[in-house]
This record gives sequence, structure tokens and C-alpha cells, in this order.
Amino acid sequence: WPYFLAAFVLGYLFGSIPFGIILTKLTGAGDLRAIGSGNIGATNVLRTGRKGLAAATLAGDMLKGTAAVIVAAQWGPNTALIAALGAFLGHLFPVWLRFKGGKGVATFLGCLLGLKPLAALGFAAVWLAVAFGTRYSSLAALVASLVTPAALWALGERQMAELFILLALLLWWMHRANIKRLATGTEGKIGQKG
Ligand code: G3P
Repeated sequence: WPYFLAAFVLGYLFGSIPFGIILTKLTGAGDLRAIGSGNIGATNVLRTGRKGLAAATLAGDMLKGTAAVIVAAQWGPNTALIAALGAFLGHLFPVWLRFKGGKGVATFLGCLLGLKPLAALGFAAVWLAVAFGTRYSSLAALVASLVTPAALWALGERQMAELFILLALLLWWMHRANIKRLATGTEGKIGQKG
């Protein structure tokens, strides 16, 4: 179990790096907490009008999950799953931001990329299809996160599927305000400032 603990801590430390906050602060792009949804993720960085920064936030928040999983995989397959859980929780509840972090979409995808690239491709395809169809980033993530455990199960990754059921539940919980806005037709569309 020392490996499990190490994997969880490593994952958490990687996951808790808030790339959106760091990049917008460094470049003077504005206070993320004060614009749009107030979230620290790439979707909200895009609301500053800085597309490159949003892309960099997406890449950073994703790849920290991928990196955690790849490093921990050296210690065994189950430690990689524990690292994924740590990274996801680190992004959602970073100690550096008084545990008020993001909603987990990019980190969910990044962990998946490190664990099962084919499933990550599936997530990305579903996300893009829903996002292009509706222009809602949150809805795209909600749908793609539901499809993921089913895809993993179909690929024979039972344990991974179980982990991603948990991650998807957490992701849905973090999107509860978005879900309310989607239901009332007040959710902001991609790139829309507000
Ligand atoms: O990545 C979070 C996304 O699904 C929604 O972001 O800023 O619109 O709440 P936001």
C-alpha cells in the first residue's frame, strides 16, 4: 500500500496545479473568478477572449492527469488508477485554492488518455459532436463523461470503468449549477462572454 499512497499523493499534487489561474495571472488576462461562470477551466479562460490561453489551459489541465497516470503506472496497473483518482480530486479540490477548484473535464480526459487512449478518443469525439451541435461546453462534458464508463466496460476494462463511474458522478456534481442553467436555458455558449 505505500505505492498506493504515493500514487494518490503524486496524483493529487499534479492535479492541484490550477493552470487556468496561473496562466491568466501570468499574462494579466483577468481574474477568472470574476468572469463568466467563475470557473478555473479552459471554457472560462476562453471567455477572456484569449484563445491561445484557453488552449494552453486545456493542455495543462489535461496533461497533468496524463503525466500522473504514466508515472504511477511504473509501480503497477492499479497504482495508475489511484493516481488518476488523486489527480481528479486534486483538480476539483486543490489545497492551494482553499479546495475550490475546477469541474474536472480536462483532467478526466487527461487521465483517460494515460490509461486507455482509445477511450479518450471516444470521449473527445462525443465532446466535439455535442459541442459543435449545441455550443454548450458543459453539456458536451456531461454526455461524454456518461459514455466513458460504458466504453471502458465494452473494452474489457472493468476496474477502470468503475473508477470512471465515480469520476463521472463527481463531474456531474461539480456541474450542478451548469445543469440548472441548461434546464432553464440560461447556460452560456462556447466563447460567449458573460
Ligand atoms: O469544463 C467545465 C465546462 O464543462 C463548463 O465550464 O465555465 O461553462 O462552467 P463553465
